Amino acid sequence: MPDSTIESILHEERLFEPPAPFSDQAYVRSRREYEQLYSKATANPERFWAEQAEQELHWFKKWDTILDWQPPFAKWFVGGQLNISYNCLDRHLTTWRRNKAAIIWEGEPGDSRTLTYGELHREVCLFANAMKQLGIQKGDRVAIYMPMIPEAAIAMLACARIGAPHSVVFGGFSSEALRDRLVDAQAKLVVTADGGFRKDKVIALKEQVDLALEHGAPSVANVLVVERTKAPVTMVQSRDHWWHDLKSQVTADCPAEPMESEDMLFILYTSGSTGKPKGVVHTTGGYNLYTHLTTKWIFDLKDTDVYWCTADVGWITGHSYIVYGPLSNGATTVMYEGVPRPSNPGCFWDVIEKYGVNIFYTAPTAIRAFIRMGEEIPNARNLSSLRLLGTVGEPINPEAWMWYHRVIGKERCPIVDTWWQTETGGIMITPLPGATATKPGSCTRPFPGIVADVVDLEGQPVADNQGGYLVIKHPWPSMIRDVYGDTNRFRRTYWEHLTTADGQPLYFAGDGARRDSDGYYWVMGRVDDVISVSGHRLGTMEIESALVSHTSVAEAAVVGRPDDLTGEAIFAFVVLDSQQAPSEALAQALKQHVIQEIGAIARPAEIRFTDALPKTRSGKIMRRLLRSLAAGQEISGDTSTLEDRTVLDKLRGGN
Ligand code: WTA
Repeated sequence: MPDSTIESILHEERLFEPPAPFSDQAYVRSRREYEQLYSKATANPERFWAEQAEQELHWFKKWDTILDWQPPFAKWFVGGQLNISYNCLDRHLTTWRRNKAAIIWEGEPGDSRTLTYGELHREVCLFANAMKQLGIQKGDRVAIYMPMIPEAAIAMLACARIGAPHSVVFGGFSSEALRDRLVDAQAKLVVTADGGFRKDKVIALKEQVDLALEHGAPSVANVLVVERTKAPVTMVQSRDHWWHDLKSQVTADCPAEPMESEDMLFILYTSGSTGKPKGVVHTTGGYNLYTHLTTKWIFDLKDTDVYWCTADVGWITGHSYIVYGPLSNGATTVMYEGVPRPSNPGCFWDVIEKYGVNIFYTAPTAIRAFIRMGEEIPNARNLSSLRLLGTVGEPINPEAWMWYHRVIGKERCPIVDTWWQTETGGIMITPLPGATATKPGSCTRPFPGIVADVVDLEGQPVADNQGGYLVIKHPWPSMIRDVYGDTNRFRRTYWEHLTTADGQPLYFAGDGARRDSDGYYWVMGRVDDVISVSGHRLGTMEIESALVSHTSVAEAAVVGRPDDLTGEAIFAFVVLDSQQAPSEALAQALKQHVIQEIGAIARPAEIRFTDALPKTRSGKIMRRLLRSLAAGQEISGDTSTLEDRTVLDKLRGGN
């Protein structure tokens, strides 16, 4: 591409209008329709959401109150009863969708399964009855630590069916990280598998569960194990049970439990600015509605589509846009166990070709990896089934956007760059693909019903194109309800940073952003101590505590360093105990230690040993300076608060 084109894209001059054939068939067909929906929804959000809730979901009992908002506590559809598993399964069984593919699954070794809605319903009922047999009741927390196999989704839906909130823990987390989450949620049951396949290796999940339980998670009474790899595992008598054994002992008769709209649906742990991950709580009715409607309008999902989101169910994207949103719409959702790997760098394109995928949703870090591997790989596959592309997880750089548009979308498919968070439950700022003209690098405009803004520290809106804090001003159905077991933290983290002039709390997303003169949002990344590595959120304090728990480490400070592939990479400054000498071997050992404490996603890319950290006179680590050092930049700005100025020179020297 000539430099001038990139220049004009970077300067926001280039608009990509939705292709007419796409708009003609879309749910929302034009900018005007979007504007109308948006103004109707913001003029009376409660009426808008109530109309949608009535039209799109099945309720066992209608609500009495649409919204009860006692800032920062929102309750949606109070008094209403429903079950998300019923909305994802049962209601489709009385229609032609009974025999439609609900989940198309592809395993990494090349095995595959398709489950129709009828079959998925049966599996979920059996799984729910098996959990009941293990004593699980409404309200009990169930941890799900699984590879990307259909049983991960089956277990989630089974929990929802009997009203047992699930806590899915990403299969890449270590036994230590798993144990912390089991303890925090007081989980009674762990659902796992003997293992899974990832990058041509067997991941031994059951072994990690055994370790976690050995180290103490006393609330866990049972472990339900799905057979996947057939690698040998140790089964502890009376605690561990094979799914295939229990399955033959239960019936498939398990009506969906009527749940109150505000009953907890799940907890999902995410990193924040302090050492301990937060259990983000989502409830039933609002989450069901919001994920349903966003899936339908943003992915323009039709009954004939094959839809594929490449996330892992261990993250919110997997919850909302592999499982609940698509199935509630009666869609066909693809689940893939593998990731691009040296033995098969084109595996994503193979899956698209094999199943005729129409809608493809992935992360910018994956797109950057594809660019590096070369376009001949996707060019060798038939991608003509694609009609819509999406991205999520971090800001997408315009160059990656253009490549995605040209090489994967063949300049024919709209791209939806979707901004949202674990806490928001669903997509908040995004194009509607038939209606919104896109600008590479911008997530464009808020979804109908979402009132976003960019404000300064006083909560005052900033002028166009001025940087500020991204906030949400009005409650929305799938918003975070609480931090599990720590309501104070919920208030502090999200609601106490910023308030409007008249004292109303604003939801603080933790992201910096600006809005341009067309009302388009440009998210600039986190403003708190959260690093995003390949779109995965990691708290700097979490990694620091892991480092400090190693016997040789006295002190550690972790910052993000820009990285072409992963967005940010983890850079750790480490002060050793006085008896220890820095060495390459010790750096390796520390990296290994972090993997053991948190998981491979938290492995520092670089460790720099130093004999002191730059601190203010009051003892606060000056991260801004460390960030510049890690990025190899000159130190600019004020350093007058630095306690010991010689520390900087030593750090620059790299020893
Ligand atoms: C970032 C993932 C820019 C952002 C769904 C947010 C994005 C954090 C985008 C949430 C996007 C997500 N553009 N930044 N389209 N999508 N982010 O909780 O910093 O894993 O706060 O949820 O990812 O990450 P989380």
